[in-house]
Amino acid sequence: MTSASHSVSDPAPLRIALLGTGSLGTLMAWHWQHEQLWVIRRDYSRPLILQQDQRDTLTLPRWDGSDLDWLVLTTKAADALPALQTLAPRLAAVKRILLLQNGMGQQDQVGDWLEQTGLPCGLWAGTSTEGAFTDDEGIVHYAGQGQTWAGPWMSESTGKADTDSDVRLPPGVQSDPDIRSRLRAKLAINACINPLTAIYRCRNGELLTNPQYHAHFQRLAAEVQQLTRELGWQLPFDVAQQAAQIAAATARNQSSTLQDILRHRPTELAYITEYLLKEAAAHGLSAPVSEDVRRLTPGGT
Ligand SMILES: NC(=O)c1ccc[n+]([C@@H]2O[C@H](COP(=O)([O-])OP(=O)(O)OC[C@H]3O[C@@H](n4cnc5c(N)ncnc54)[C@H](OP(=O)(O)O)[C@@H]3O)[C@@H](O)[C@H]2O)c1
Repeated sequence: MTSASHSVSDPAPLRIALLGTGSLGTLMAWHWQHEQLWVIRRDYSRPLILQQDQRDTLTLPRWDGSDLDWLVLTTKAADALPALQTLAPRLAAVKRILLLQNGMGQQDQVGDWLEQTGLPCGLWAGTSTEGAFTDDEGIVHYAGQGQTWAGPWMSESTGKADTDSDVRLPPGVQSDPDIRSRLRAKLAINACINPLTAIYRCRNGELLTNPQYHAHFQRLAAEVQQLTRELGWQLPFDVAQQAAQIAAATARNQSSTLQDILRHRPTELAYITEYLLKEAAAHGLSAPVSEDVRRLTPGGT
């Protein structure tokens, strides 16, 4: 994705508010800075700063409750529902909510809550392979260009989804009508790599090169592959092969889960491993390797 400015022939700017201006949120704010953009933050005292070849400073207004085409959440998964609940009285002004986060489970939590409250916002889910991190001075670094997809979230309990065919997505975001499958594919890979990097405090590539970690990785990946098959997820790849390929391609990276642990922050494993375990339990499937991994993961139960 690259940032581009508007010309006279462009359609009117989209009205977007970004909730959660950490690493990914700041990057998206930079991509979307030529739209009509607001932010919802806990601390408004500092501008957003994005560093790539050059350093860009964005001073964006606080959302004043005016009408929005999109309210985009770039918080961690666990913060999605609580953050929206605090905004409930103002959500009637929001046409669509996009949850642009890793993991699964929060989409249904938010969907169920919207259903219960009767709020009219359409719910979309998204996923991104862009990479950004925040340094100790609060500056966000654009670490790797990637792609971002979004699609309407269909509730499994009610079968309801936003069916409007005339939806303009924020710049650079590609439409994926089957976003659930894309999220499942990402979750399956994360469920193989992330918890083990947290248990062994290792970089992704060590899951392949250290014999002890590799044996554990193979057992876990085989189980995740079997589970996803039995859950009928129909992934476009062999989970074990793909997880190994991604661990090799990102060998020098610290997974987001390991980064969270090293920074003493909550991980998103409740929305990765835990989500898979809940799905397995709901279908009467056992998952002993994942259960064990959950127990061994720092903060696991
Ligand atoms: N970073 C990446 O490269 C990347 C790539 C793809 C996907 N993702 C996914 O994107 C999501 C966000 O990741 P991230 O790395 O950007 O995390 P992050 O840097 O921790 O940013 C999350 C932001 O959400 C804010 N927040 C939480 N609750 C809030 C609330 N109630 N009101 C306002 N702001 C709130 C946090 O504010 P405080 O700082 O005040 O807590 C923080 O600024 C995660 O699901 C992650 O897995 C990230």
